[in-house]
Amino acid sequence: MKEIINLITEKLEDVFKQCGYEERFAKVTVSNRPDLCEYQCNGAMAAAKQYKKAPIMIATDIVEKIKDDEMFESVSAVNPGFINIILSGDFVSSYVNDMSKDDDFGYEKKHNKTIVIDYGGPNVAKPLHVGHLRSAVIGESLKRILRYAGNNVTGDVHLGDWGLQMGLIITELKERNPKLCYFDDSYTGEYPEEAPFTISELEEIYPCASGRSKEDPEYKNRAHEATLKLQQGYKPYIALWKHIMNVSVDDLKRNYDRLDVSFDLWKGESDADAYVPELIDMLKSKNLLHESQGAMVVDVAQDTDTKEIPPCIVQKSDGAALYATSDLATLIQRRRDFDPDAVIYIADKRQEMHFTQVFRVAKKAEVVPDKTELVFCGFGTMNGKDGKPFKTRDGGVMRLEHLISDIDNAVYDKMMENRSMEEEEAKSIAKIVGLSALKYGDLSNQASKDYVFDLDRFVSFEGNTGPYILYTIVRIKSIISKYLGDSSEKDALMSDILPAGSDSEKELMLKLAGYQTVINVAVDELAPHKICAYIYEVSNVFNKFYHDTRILSETDESKKKSYIALINLTMKILEKCIGLLGFGAPERM
Ligand code: ARG
Repeated sequence: MKEIINLITEKLEDVFKQCGYEERFAKVTVSNRPDLCEYQCNGAMAAAKQYKKAPIMIATDIVEKIKDDEMFESVSAVNPGFINIILSGDFVSSYVNDMSKDDDFGYEKKHNKTIVIDYGGPNVAKPLHVGHLRSAVIGESLKRILRYAGNNVTGDVHLGDWGLQMGLIITELKERNPKLCYFDDSYTGEYPEEAPFTISELEEIYPCASGRSKEDPEYKNRAHEATLKLQQGYKPYIALWKHIMNVSVDDLKRNYDRLDVSFDLWKGESDADAYVPELIDMLKSKNLLHESQGAMVVDVAQDTDTKEIPPCIVQKSDGAALYATSDLATLIQRRRDFDPDAVIYIADKRQEMHFTQVFRVAKKAEVVPDKTELVFCGFGTMNGKDGKPFKTRDGGVMRLEHLISDIDNAVYDKMMENRSMEEEEAKSIAKIVGLSALKYGDLSNQASKDYVFDLDRFVSFEGNTGPYILYTIVRIKSIISKYLGDSSEKDALMSDILPAGSDSEKELMLKLAGYQTVINVAVDELAPHKICAYIYEVSNVFNKFYHDTRILSETDESKKKSYIALINLTMKILEKCIGLLGFGAPERM
């Protein structure tokens, strides 16, 4: 279906043309004065300059020609030259009715790009903390949105699995257990299948090693050497690395499962390693590489830069690869595996310089062809109520799983405040609602902005929160199940939607009619927060309608059926939208 706003615009374009004005002036927007009208066109003001006519005269010309069209209940010209539009009840209900008969509510999937989306980005062996939460939550939602739009999307977790943290762990292990076969140069047998540590030990080893390396330069040196040895393929360390990987990846998967976040690919920086020599050859053959203070760098500054963009370092003096090297090599791999039209990176916005440098090198060296869009979607920090990056009560880094259980517990307490429910059921509902609180609390903010993690607000059943949206869905479900009773006549849910009989009913229809426009904006701008804002409005308008309308006690059967079809559509749209955000609704709460 065409977007409703485009249908109105086309109608106005025709009339602008008929009256001798350019059709580009016919742009229609949702009214910013809903008390006066539903849609508006401000084009007469702009056209006035070109045609040297008073705007109100142009607006009046247009209105005269269009006001009797059946699309409108009224169209009026208002000083200084606004065209105010109120749609006819028939037009709106028939549009919404058509939406209700389509699985995608009339949304046209016009996209078919091949896209790789790089999100999550956890560092192996370091516990998953809230810093990685945003990347996972935003990335998962964007993956779903872009897929829904028709694209062919591959999500890659891009593990940080090749850096110094590996050398640190190996060094610390050796300190604690020098007798392990991995540290015995003369050992020639097979390496054990079982890892010499558990995930909890690993999580204690890493911070300990990291702390020691900061205080002891000699220890740090050893960690660097171990890292280099690993990267050069030293067998015993590769065997240890595999253990670290297995143990951590299992743990990561468990955590991502709880967040309902998943990946098509579990590749990481280590997989890029094989492509580094090819990358260096490419850079050399294009004469892009030069030495600077012992390191090999590529210049990426451009004349048009307004701030300094330093050269991108691709090889340190000891030959070690860097973060940029690994991202560039990964692009070679992604090109080979997917030949993507776009690669989208979801990472902390403080990494912007890194990505600017990487993208410029990639284009200069033709690591990816011109057609491949490289997009950095940088997100802000999740702060505590004190405005500083979120910490635990004792000032440590909050582990993601603790954060999740805090939320689930808060929701559980809230649910149990004024009712009794079987504990088991309540716990499982609290998990669903808790996830909505966490994800909606994050996604409802524009990704690039910092936001304050406010547990009490996020779990509230009122206001702009995930639980409020779920509450609205559950409310509709309960009306529908009361309506259906024992009958399985689901057909009634698909009855025709009749013209609205009240202001709030029409308002609800108009909101639903905007679905396609909102999805298009969310897709084009990579902006899940637009979907959050939309479902918050839909929920508010629905709740107003619910307040004003006796749905189940309506005596006019066809009117009642129309109400049911309308709220069923409302529910399905809300459910589709929360699915795109990455969470679901319970049956009751
Ligand atoms: N592991 C990185 C970090 O925690 C994030 C990775 C982002 N993705 C990328 N391709 N660089 O900082």
